[in-house]
Amino acid sequence: MNTFLQNNPTRLLFGEGQIQKLPEELGQKGLKVLVVYGGGSIKRNGVYNDVIRELKNAEASVFELSGVEPNPRLSTVQRGIDICKSEGIDFLLAVGGGSVIDCTKAIAVGAKYDGNPWDLITQQAPIESALPIGTVLTLAATGSEMNPVSVITNWVTKDKLGWESPLVFPTFSILDPTYTYSVPRNQTVYGIVDSMSHALEHYFHRTENTPVIDGFIESILRTAIDNGPKLLNQLDSYKYRETMMYISTTAFNGTLMNGTDGGDWATHRIEHAISAIYDIPHGGGLAILFPNWLEHVLEEDPSRVKQLATNVFGIEEEGKSDKEVAREGAKALRDFWNSLGAPSRLADYNIDDKQFDSITVKTFIKPGVGTYKELDAESVMDILKRSL
Ligand code: NZQ
Ligand code: ZN
Repeated sequence: MNTFLQNNPTRLLFGEGQIQKLPEELGQKGLKVLVVYGGGSIKRNGVYNDVIRELKNAEASVFELSGVEPNPRLSTVQRGIDICKSEGIDFLLAVGGGSVIDCTKAIAVGAKYDGNPWDLITQQAPIESALPIGTVLTLAATGSEMNPVSVITNWVTKDKLGWESPLVFPTFSILDPTYTYSVPRNQTVYGIVDSMSHALEHYFHRTENTPVIDGFIESILRTAIDNGPKLLNQLDSYKYRETMMYISTTAFNGTLMNGTDGGDWATHRIEHAISAIYDIPHGGGLAILFPNWLEHVLEEDPSRVKQLATNVFGIEEEGKSDKEVAREGAKALRDFWNSLGAPSRLADYNIDDKQFDSITVKTFIKPGVGTYKELDAESVMDILKRSL
């Protein structure tokens, strides 16, 4: 293992009814709170009413930013920053999925900065302070509720960029599985794929002697494979929703990096480049790319993919070469995601090879793509072609 520091400051309040703790978590009465949310799902499923009731109990002055889009945009971040500056907002409360939380994180740093917030996201200006944020999670997928990461799309430059700062860890996150009952089937599938991809990307590290973390990851993956189909058969099951919610938060809250080099996030980089041009759902893009990344890396070194194949998918080794076992593992992952209804080809989103050069350039917008296998432009092109 490598030396490591684990410090996740987010207070996690997990379980039905935890919204009642919101006033206490805010810490003081009478705050000016900006509630950030998306296209209206929280009004249809009652979460909005619960949040407003508890904010009243906290004697908060409530301001609202609605309409945060999936793959949140810089222009929406700017709208939020304008409200914070003109109203003197004290606290940001994100109520939604990863897009709403990521947008809120960018508003938090932008509200304390006088220039264009894109400077902070591209790291052209240092992030020195942020408004505090809390979250009420309504979709289990990204882990943004308990990590310092945010992903923002600039539609002017057509770039989708991940950035992070310890200043944007939520101070608290409320995770009530009943708030995810209304997540439609397709978004539920994307959440399963995204969470499993996060676990998988952590798994592809090159650090020696990491049996505990490797075992955690394999357990998360096996549980997701067991729980996913049951959840899709019963979208309002507390049991399956809570398992899913805990999987997605744990898959990307820092735990799975303890003592490792952090894993290989190349597939996320390629997916973000595709989404920047085609605005496809993040989980859908990953479902297409990840099995093809596995097939790309196993050609050179099948060892880790083989371990995944045997320990997670139970592929038998007898009489087969390492590569054959590894290939069966990559196929088992694709077959599992397809069985849930996830897409398997770029053609499923009507994407052909016309923009492959541009996707490749955008993948390298920040240098260094991949650590388990560092990719060059030719490798990215190979993965894209396998994904057609
Ligand atoms: O906008 P509303 O009306 O709320 O509808 C949303 C949206 O249309 C809907 N939804 C959310 N909760 C619901 C619900 N519908 C019914 N009932 C509910 N309870 O779901 C749709 C998708 O929401 P979104 O927030 O976009 O999904 P997700 O949580 O998957 O977030 C995706 C974004 O997060 C980024 C992705 O790139 C993408 O932009 N990521 C963020 C990460 C992070 N911060 O750590 C890591 C990830 O790898 C990812 O890149
Ligand atoms: Zn992701």
